Order: sequence, then structure tokens, then C-alpha cells
Amino acid sequence: MYERLRKLLKSAGETMVNADRSDIGIDAKDGHANFVTKYDRLVQEQLYNGLMEILPGSGFFGEEEAHDAFPGEECVWIVDPIDGTSNFIKGWYHSCISIALIKDMQRTEGWVYNPYTDELFYAKKGQGALLNDRPIKVSGRPLKEGLVLFGTAPYYDGMPGIAFRRAEEFMDKCIDVRRMGSAALDLCFVACGRAELYFEPRLQPWDIAAGSLIVEEAGGSVTQWDGEDFDITRPCSCLAQGSAHEIVTVQWSTRPLNSNGFGT
Ligand code: IPD
Ligand code: CA
Ligand code: CA
Repeated sequence: MYERLRKLLKSAGETMVNADRSDIGIDAKDGHANFVTKYDRLVQEQLYNGLMEILPGSGFFGEEEAHDAFPGEECVWIVDPIDGTSNFIKGWYHSCISIALIKDMQRTEGWVYNPYTDELFYAKKGQGALLNDRPIKVSGRPLKEGLVLFGTAPYYDGMPGIAFRRAEEFMDKCIDVRRMGSAALDLCFVACGRAELYFEPRLQPWDIAAGSLIVEEAGGSVTQWDGEDFDITRPCSCLAQGSAHEIVTVQWSTRPLNSNGFGT
């Protein structure tokens, strides 16, 4: 299955890389600056056809509507055809394809592929995480020696302000903060030790399903901001940690973080 998925991801990745940038067909969806391009739809269709061949009869839950199977089915693919659509529109070359396989409501495998760097992150439950076939681990470094990534949850009223306040507070506790524009890649960057922490006030199942498993299998943790387990069937806040030194939680309120830590 891994080999078949890899081939499918490479060919869907070519659709992104070879996109006709003079005509990417942008449409607006609900929420602030929430766009879909014809390539999001094209890639999703390509993945749907490929995944149904790989696992006939499986369910498919993709960001760009059309195939709606989740939750409930025994075996479901959760797919973000292009995570980082704004990056894709602006030609940043920092976007990816994210695919998770859910069996009996549990994440069992996750793939995140950045076609611009040809980096394929993969994890299987209980078997570790790989980047281009080599095992990866979270950095385990203290936060003060770390980078903190964050997302602004840009499509939802009120969320960006909360994210920016938390980012400003983290700034004092680490080397620097980054807002990169792809949640799935943010998670993978924590998984392979390029960053120590990532947080965002609201994500959808397709943003987090694959990347969260990759972080966990690389030795990190992914929870909601308050430390509770996240729920793969609904929007949640996200906090991914790759530092073994302190377990952090993130507050919703505007109260400053406490003196020795990062909220309670
Ligand atoms: C978005 C990106 C972004 C994150 C948003 C996501 P999309 O996904 O991952 O980094 O901040 O919360 O919705 O819309 O580009 O697939
Ligand atoms: Ca996304
Ligand atoms: Ca997307």
C-alpha cells in the first residue's frame, strides 16, 4: 500500500507543480479569504480515483466536498488535497497533500507530501515516522532553544487575534516564531525536529489527521490547547509538541502566561 500511495502522491504532486499559474481558477468559500482553486479540486479528484482503486469500497472525506463519508464508515480516507492553498495561490512552494487512513475511527496511517521539496512524511500507528524512508524523531530540545510555529485560523472570526496574542507570549520563551501557512507541514516540521512546537486555535480534521499521527509516531504529542485529546471528527484547537523538556498548554483567555510556564 505504501508504494501505491507514494506513486499516487507523486502524480498528484505533479498536478500542483505543473499548474498553469496564469489560470489557477480561484473561487471563494465561506469565511475570511478562504479560497479554493481548480487545482484543489483536480488534485482531490485524482486522489479520490486513486484511493478507491487502492482500497475499493472505502469511504472518502475530502476538504473540497463531493465525497462525504465521515464519520461512521469502517475505513475512511481523510484528505486535504492542497494544504496551504493561499501559499499555492501566491507561488510560495510551501504546500502539501495530506492523506490519513482511519480505521474504526482511529488514525492508522498518515502521508504528507510536499511536491516542491519532494519530501514525503509517513507514519503508521505503532511503527514510527519516516521522512523519505528515513526514521524521524522530534527534536526533544527545550523550548528556549526552539522554534515555535503557529497558524492563525484565518477563516474564523476572532481566532487570528487569539493566535497572535499567544504567539507574542511564546516569543519570549523560544528563539523565534513562524507562521508558514500549511498546518500539515507545520506538524511534520515538529515531527522531524525543525521546530519544537506548533499551535493553532482551530483546525479541521483534514488539516490534522495525517500530520498528528506523524508527530506522535516521531515521539511528540498532539492535543487541544488545554491538553485534552483532540477529536478527529470535528474542528479542534491544536497543540503539537516536540520538546521533551516541558509540557505546555495554551490558554484561550487574554491573561498572560504564568511566570515559569505556558499556562495552566
Ligand atoms: C489552512 C492552512 C493554514 C492554516 C489554516 C488551514 P488550507 O489550510 O493549513 O496554515 O492556518 O487553518 O485551514 O485552507 O490551505 O487547506
Ligand atoms: Ca488545510
Ligand atoms: Ca486545503
